Amino acid sequence: MALQESDRLVIFGITGDLAKKMTLPSLYRLERRGLLKVPVVTVASQPWTHEHLVAHTRECVEKAEGTIDEKVFARLAKRLSYVGGNFLDPDLYVNLKKALGKATAPTYYLEIPPSLFVKVAEQLHAADMTSGSARIVFEKPFGTSLSTAVELNEKLHTMLREEQIFRIDHYLGKEPVLDVVYFRFANQIFEPIWNAHYVDCIMVTMAEDFGVEDRGSFYDAVGTIRDVVQNHLLQVISLVTMEAPVKDMTGPRLSIFRAIPDADPKFMVKGQYEGYLKVPGVKPKSKTETFVALKLSIHNWRWGGLPVFIRAGKDMPVKATEVVVRFKKLNPIYIGGRMRTSRWYDDIVFRLGADPGVTMGIRVKTPGHNDVEPVELGVDFLKALGDTAPEPYELLLTSAMAGDHTLFPDQSVEEETWRIVQPLLDDNSTPKKYKPGTWGPQEANDMVKSHGGWREPTCDSDDAEHKTP
Ligand code: BG6
Repeated sequence: MALQESDRLVIFGITGDLAKKMTLPSLYRLERRGLLKVPVVTVASQPWTHEHLVAHTRECVEKAEGTIDEKVFARLAKRLSYVGGNFLDPDLYVNLKKALGKATAPTYYLEIPPSLFVKVAEQLHAADMTSGSARIVFEKPFGTSLSTAVELNEKLHTMLREEQIFRIDHYLGKEPVLDVVYFRFANQIFEPIWNAHYVDCIMVTMAEDFGVEDRGSFYDAVGTIRDVVQNHLLQVISLVTMEAPVKDMTGPRLSIFRAIPDADPKFMVKGQYEGYLKVPGVKPKSKTETFVALKLSIHNWRWGGLPVFIRAGKDMPVKATEVVVRFKKLNPIYIGGRMRTSRWYDDIVFRLGADPGVTMGIRVKTPGHNDVEPVELGVDFLKALGDTAPEPYELLLTSAMAGDHTLFPDQSVEEETWRIVQPLLDDNSTPKKYKPGTWGPQEANDMVKSHGGWREPTCDSDDAEHKTP
């Protein structure tokens, strides 16, 4: 049964950090674009009043946007209401039901600790609030391992149909990430070379130039592989390598995950930045990784075992998320009066962070000399297209309210991605220390030496320097 368009948005956990940084500013932006059309009921355990909620929302929006359009804000404030109470207390759901009035297709968005996902779903179910077109959006992480993700799915399926379940991965709501699909399939020239005959390897870097800071107790139980590899980076890899979508992208993405064998801890380097053990909330002898470099491979007709390298970490030299599609070296050529062997690989680089764009390495004649020189051909999306892209949560919340699953991993995708990383999670080795502000342990560089080394990413901010190996 297809879901009807939602007639209420219900947000559990509105007083939390994610709501502060992402959800409330996103609601404001949706209101500004005229895309928020339903009442928004917010829920949390604090005894807040409507005035308190509105004041908090104003503070969050001002922080995120710099300025506020009072007319837009007044419309948003009118839309908001607040229901306070303990998530495990049935009385909360009696009050919530009253607040929902005649709604028949509510979207419940749970941005709450994952340990409460099933409990809140059970309460909603017991209160007869999950039938028909109701749906629940679960914030990440969805499970902590293959077995817990399977168990979570099974429990939810005793109460909900698969189409009522939306699992968030905010990377699938990022415009530059989605642009990879347009770049590949809306242009004629790239797809013929997008295969193992031409491509040498794929490299993905997700670097953050800050540490774990005030998220010690959350992060220490999670680590880099669970935090960003199982979800964000595998989703990105699937978009870079999948076949062209016919109707939706779930099938092609799932086929890629099925073609990636279980990761092998032999091809993994774990790191932990010096000073991590002193972060409040981190266990004194914690072996949690704050950096990981690893190798996967894709075994299908198009990719024939192509290596895919991932490195991700906290406290790196820059903040940047990049995918490098590295092409094989040219055969020797006769040019400029002699035979030459290519010194360089050609890279197509997708910048997926705050400075989105695409760069391509090409070779040109050195002016005045019979020599070959690498230059870059690139487009900066913000300069070329303007800064009008919706933020991930705008896109994801409106998609869920429209009943559209395109941007959400389904159960099988969740389980395949956990399967891929599970051997890495089972590995109990101690991470190697690295100095904050560096690219992690040296072994991470050795891993990709024979493929030309990691590409130094363009930082998200200003004076970006492009270095090709
Ligand atoms: C989150 C992780 O899912 O993604 C964080 O929990 C990480 O640790 C964040 O910092 C990165 O998201 P973005 O959109 O800033 O790249």
